[in-house]
Amino acid sequence: MPNETLSSSLEMSSYQKKIVQYIDVDLKPLPTSVTRVLNAVDNQMSNAGFIGELLGLDHVLAARVLQAANSAYLGYGPSCSSLTDAVVRLGFRRVKTMVLGVVTSSSLETALKGYQYSSTDLWNHSIAVATAAQWIARAISYENPEEAYVAGLIHDIGKTALNHIIVVIREKFYTVKEERDLPFYRVERLFFGLDHAYVGGMMAKKWNFPERLLLGIKHHHTPNESTDDGYLASIVNIANACNPYNNSKVNNYGTDNIHSSSFDILGLSKESVFEKIVELFSYYQNS
Ligand SMILES: [Fe+2]
Ligand SMILES: [Fe+2]
Repeated sequence: MPNETLSSSLEMSSYQKKIVQYIDVDLKPLPTSVTRVLNAVDNQMSNAGFIGELLGLDHVLAARVLQAANSAYLGYGPSCSSLTDAVVRLGFRRVKTMVLGVVTSSSLETALKGYQYSSTDLWNHSIAVATAAQWIARAISYENPEEAYVAGLIHDIGKTALNHIIVVIREKFYTVKEERDLPFYRVERLFFGLDHAYVGGMMAKKWNFPERLLLGIKHHHTPNESTDDGYLASIVNIANACNPYNNSKVNNYGTDNIHSSSFDILGLSKESVFEKIVELFSYYQNS
């Protein structure tokens, strides 16, 4: 994080207190139906049948897990219709990642006035980044492409928390953003001493996300600072910079938003990343 700030230390600590309070008090814990599934997945005594039964109690979770298990895109074989088969096919870890993605992503479908987002903007961006992250993960044979999808889906969830504070200081915030031509995360750091990625990590901690997923969110703008190998954060960092819903070359093939360490961490050259992005782009055009 940069040393330069635009708030006094008193202001900054009051912003940070508000953020902590939002996460501790206002941010809802995960629903019981979901924690039950998550606990069962973590319990070594559980079997696929029991987890399938618990999933069956929540039709949204059940549909998502079945859909994933039957996804030709993920390379699975003949279709399966029972939740038990789906859990066996996906494995417990993937089921857990998927459940976390389904339940937390619902808060992305909301207007964020502080960020000037309509009710669909953050959702569309999140789906685009999730798809790109999964695409990149598969292209580089990352062991868990669903994890990359979910990290991409909820990478910007911290914006839903910071939105409440930005709304209040909107004028000052945008004056700085426009005068200095900075992306959101850099303006957030100037005012609050932390950015939405860091706040997303705090939210993931409250929800007991697996460490790897938490770090993928927390470091999607700073993959070099991740305390694991930084793979997931780098995948999301690259995916965040290629927006398949925007046809302009700048957005699709630009390097401005990609942290230079992402290439090194994944052992990829810029050229090969661009090749993958071009492939992703033509996949979108043809689908
Ligand atoms: Fe971000
Ligand atoms: Fe983003």
